[in-house]
Amino acid sequence: MKKGANMPGHYFTSKAAAAIPVVPVTPESLSGWRGGLDARQRAWVDANGFRAKPGSVCLLFDDHGAIASVATGFPDDDGSAIWDWATTAKALPPGVYKIAPDGGPLDKDRAEQAALGWGLHGYVFDRYRSGTDKKKKSAKAADARILVWPNTADAAFVLSTLHAIWLVRDLINTPASDMGPAQLAAAAKAVAKQRKATISVTVGNALLEQGYPAIHAVGRASAQAPRLIDMTWGKKGAPRVTLVGKGVCFDTGGLDLKSSSGMKLMKKDMGGAALVLGLAAMIMDAGLAVRLRVLIPAVENSIDGSAMRPLDVVPTRKGLTIEIGNTDAEGRVILADALAEAVTDAPELIIDCATLTGAARVALGTEVPALFCNDDEMAAGILANSAMVSDPLWRLPLWQGYKSQVDGKVADVTNAPEGSFGGAITAALFLERFVQPKTGEAPPWAHIDMMAWNTASRAGRPEGGEAMGMRALFAYLAERFGA
Ligand code: BES
Ligand code: ZN
Ligand code: ZN
Repeated sequence: MKKGANMPGHYFTSKAAAAIPVVPVTPESLSGWRGGLDARQRAWVDANGFRAKPGSVCLLFDDHGAIASVATGFPDDDGSAIWDWATTAKALPPGVYKIAPDGGPLDKDRAEQAALGWGLHGYVFDRYRSGTDKKKKSAKAADARILVWPNTADAAFVLSTLHAIWLVRDLINTPASDMGPAQLAAAAKAVAKQRKATISVTVGNALLEQGYPAIHAVGRASAQAPRLIDMTWGKKGAPRVTLVGKGVCFDTGGLDLKSSSGMKLMKKDMGGAALVLGLAAMIMDAGLAVRLRVLIPAVENSIDGSAMRPLDVVPTRKGLTIEIGNTDAEGRVILADALAEAVTDAPELIIDCATLTGAARVALGTEVPALFCNDDEMAAGILANSAMVSDPLWRLPLWQGYKSQVDGKVADVTNAPEGSFGGAITAALFLERFVQPKTGEAPPWAHIDMMAWNTASRAGRPEGGEAMGMRALFAYLAERFGA
């Protein structure tokens, strides 16, 4: 794993000596905490107007003028403890700190949320800064705020989570000029190699020979050949868990070209692929008792003379034909082939992640990914864990009443139903057609339609790529398949 100021390990230490205690104080616990201070400190706290406002910090000094301890404000109901801790870490001067709650050590979950938030405050994407700028940054990194591992936290879990988030964000933030299908496959190979997973990549015309015509159709107009990444890890007899991620390395819209503003962020259209790679890394790091498979169709939705056209009919791995109602609805077309393959080895469950529709963002905004699921028990499990780890998801229905909207006029299905209502649902219903195996029942399947991008910067969440829903999905899988 990479080391250095930009990696999460940089923000932690196990040496508690000389660390400055940080005391989380809520509006409710404020008067009790204040009462425990000496008269001079009390006067200082009052003079500073410290009211335990979430995100505020109050430094307390010793007789020599050195920082003796720090109080940091938290809401009474610290449901968003991760981000509160990221805010606190950012607000502190450089130094080594330890969390010292008034009422004894934090429980395991809170300690892990605190460490996660602390680590996340340090994420920056500065790979493309030139020399002078970088030097300025690394001088800053040398002055980092470092946290003594809270001893109730599982440090391996926290670091694995942080590394996965770093990976997902870096992959998304990297410009499409350096993150095409080939580089995405290289990134997947690196994840596989570090954890001794096997991986194969089917490239270009080999997609046609091996029965992935839809992936080929979407990606063939790009200078970089389309490909299917297929990673496997874990014991053979273990329950099969298959993750599928939309890997559109850049989405121009194809011949149905996007507008400038619509196209601008489309380097993030491989966010689903990045997310399943991060999730896979966490699953392998934790040694979950699963036979893991990761399928990533990686393409660029681009334009040349070979580009697919509106009303072209594209064959698929499953045999169903797709009428291209709109070349910009490319994600579901590549996922069709990947999902058709995913169901063939009778998995215990399938999860796909995709920056699939603008409609999901209209419905839920940019921060809440939509969850679609054909199995109520699985949906409830995912949502319960999502709430537990404060990583939001919201369920939308696979409303069968809209199923006929996905029917094609000349082909079996259309990738772009007429009319613009319920676009996230009809996209999910399209995918559902490919999760249905030729014979027998569909496996439990969850589909996550997400933004994968922070539209503004907040502590621990800078503007740019984001691993939305990854911690929720991991918590669900760890609960089911934990060692
Ligand atoms: N990658 C986009 C969806 C997207 C856009 C996600 C903006 C997040 C933010 C996808 O390929 C797309 O363009 N979908 C179209 C589908 C339509 C043509 C049926 C959409 O959502 O407009
Ligand atoms: Zn598109
Ligand atoms: Zn797209």
